[in-house]
Amino acid sequence: MRIELTVNGERREADDVWEGESLLYALRERLGLPGSKNACEQGECGSCTVYLDGTPVCACLVAAGQAQGREVTTVEGLGSAESLDPVQQAFLERGAVQCGFCTPGLIVSTHDLLQRNPNPSDPEIREALAGNLCRCTGYEKIMDAVRTAAEATR
Ligand code: FES
Ligand code: FES
Repeated sequence: MRIELTVNGERREADDVWEGESLLYALRERLGLPGSKNACEQGECGSCTVYLDGTPVCACLVAAGQAQGREVTTVEGLGSAESLDPVQQAFLERGAVQCGFCTPGLIVSTHDLLQRNPNPSDPEIREALAGNLCRCTGYEKIMDAVRTAAEATR
């Protein structure tokens, strides 16, 4: 089947999408957007987090067909290489990126948190990011990055 959707503000379409295909697969393999990562494909790790109509979802758990006519924003759509989003900048500055597999999902989840709550407490940050697993950093640098991003966006 063909799907048509808006991705990062642009009208996009993909052909030959099969019924069980995930939005994550379509984004990465059909639309050339490899920012969202596939680490578990089971909704456990959060590395594939994208916005779907403004709500963060695990793109591995959404069928590509469910995104028909809807609006998707990926980590690529939050900023550009020339003009990073403050959350992207904070992750870079605070050394919160090691292997980077978890990073796109954490950035989208942090972006969402700060839109809802510009001044989160540490427990609120931990709760908001509980669905995003990181094997590398021990989370301290990620906490630093979120606090820095919160200061930058307030
Ligand atoms: S790849 Fe989607 S939650 Fe892990
Ligand atoms: S930086 Fe490697 S999983 Fe988080």
